[in-house]
Amino acid sequence: MIIAVDGPAASGKGTIARALARRYGLPHLDTGKLYRATGLAVRLSGKHPNDDVAAAVAARNLDSALLDDPHLMSSSNAEAASIVSAHPAVRAALLERQRAFAAQPGGAVLDGRDIGTVIAPHADAKLFVTAAPHVRAQRRHAELAKAGDSRDFATVLADIEARDMRDSDRAVAPLRRAADAALLDTSDLGIDAAVRLAIALVEAAISRDGHLKV
Ligand code: C5P
Repeated sequence: MIIAVDGPAASGKGTIARALARRYGLPHLDTGKLYRATGLAVRLSGKHPNDDVAAAVAARNLDSALLDDPHLMSSSNAEAASIVSAHPAVRAALLERQRAFAAQPGGAVLDGRDIGTVIAPHADAKLFVTAAPHVRAQRRHAELAKAGDSRDFATVLADIEARDMRDSDRAVAPLRRAADAALLDTSDLGIDAAVRLAIALVEAAISRDGHLKV
């Protein structure tokens, strides 16, 4: 069974995808990490993420060790990821790796921005997880504070809105809800309630299809 989970930054999609992977005993891929590692590789090479040639080279030669780099999840690297992810050659370089992960025997859970639309358009279940921008900014702000980052709320909200706009407006594989994706708005939900709802939506998608596309 393939489960596609898409949505904007800090919507809860990663937490939900991990919980679904546990629930169904499936491997999970956080595809944002591939774009973050590409952005980080470009920065480490001294180039700017706007440099599409440098970014494509970085994506084609992605060093897996960067996926565990302590700087991978930082705010500055999120911005770099968002910039490199708009380059068509970067998306093309990372496409097969994600499709191969989705196609492994038994299936997988993938989360990102274009899983239901581009990477796994035939997924058995698709969720589009979202939340109001100020709620997502509150979550990210709390996470950053816990990690010792004193960035103020207004800055975090502005970063989230800028990233939403860049991810939604890019020409290739923009952030979009697939026509057949179930919408899960987590604005007023705690983690447990959001996960329960996600499982119910996956179960509904599976029983509606009547069979699994394994
Ligand atoms: O999910 P996360 O916030 O870690 O993703 C970082 C950035 O990577 C996103 O802002 C987005 O620009 C990009 N991304 C993407 N397509 C994906 C996953 C992430 O463009 N499937």
